[in-house]
Amino acid sequence: MSLFGEPFTAKCRKSDVTIEVAEGQSLLQALLDAGISMDYSCEGGVCGTCVVPLVEGEVEHMDEFLTEDEQESQLTTCVSRGIGEIEIDV
Ligand code: FES
Repeated sequence: MSLFGEPFTAKCRKSDVTIEVAEGQSLLQALLDAGISMDYSCEGGVCGTCVVPLVEGEVEHMDEFLTEDEQESQLTTCVSRGIGEIEIDV
């Protein structure tokens, strides 16, 4: 059992790349590994620095920062994960 969760795919609209997030990896880490410049701080889902807009897809939200309303259109990349494939505006 991994610390993070299931693998998933994230299409990045602005960067025009699609990244695979491995089970032992956060979306934030996968974005950084892909050379995408990301701001982040706590890496624990509490500060909101790593929040990005969600374009499409289902997300397992694991942060304590966004409200339920905000979670419909945004996600914290340090702790939250897509289910299957998501698209983000990054
Ligand atoms: S880095 Fe703080 S919520 Fe993601």
